[in-house]
Amino acid sequence: MSEQKENIIEENATEEDIKIDGKNSLEGKSRRNFLNWLLGITSSGLALLMTYPLLRYIVPPKLRQATVSSVELGKIDDFKKGRGEIFKFGRKPGLLIRTKNGDFKAFHATCTHLDCTVQYRDDLDIIWCACHNGVFDLDGLNISGPPPEPLPKYKVIIRGDKVIVKQESDA
Ligand code: FES
Repeated sequence: MSEQKENIIEENATEEDIKIDGKNSLEGKSRRNFLNWLLGITSSGLALLMTYPLLRYIVPPKLRQATVSSVELGKIDDFKKGRGEIFKFGRKPGLLIRTKNGDFKAFHATCTHLDCTVQYRDDLDIIWCACHNGVFDLDGLNISGPPPEPLPKYKVIIRGDKVIVKQESDA
């Protein structure tokens, strides 16, 4: 090997390369392996610690649906004629409509197309879904737009001066 070539090799060599034939070489390698392993374990642990809360946030825990059979919404006079109000029935939204002639009607307020919340349009006297312009009549029938099925109804009970809604199937 020429002298010039040996100088180039020595310039590029690290401390590890220089000790390659001695005892220090093995110690250095095992120390480096151990540190790499420790770094890998620590990185994996940190990644798990950071990922777990993110996953818990993205995938909410399954909550049991509270069993609700009826909801008292207020007094008759609290509801003006020709108006609609969203209420909660358990965790689901409902829509109570007091028609222009004073009758009460209540529906599940979740659109049967893609689950948007519907609303009462007093100007057109319809139930309307703003997401894709779905239209239901005041009996909950899907009359226009993409909703494939009518809105399920709640039963409205007037007890004294109170307005109560119940599941349609309840007695
Ligand atoms: S979600 Fe109501 S029309 Fe599409």
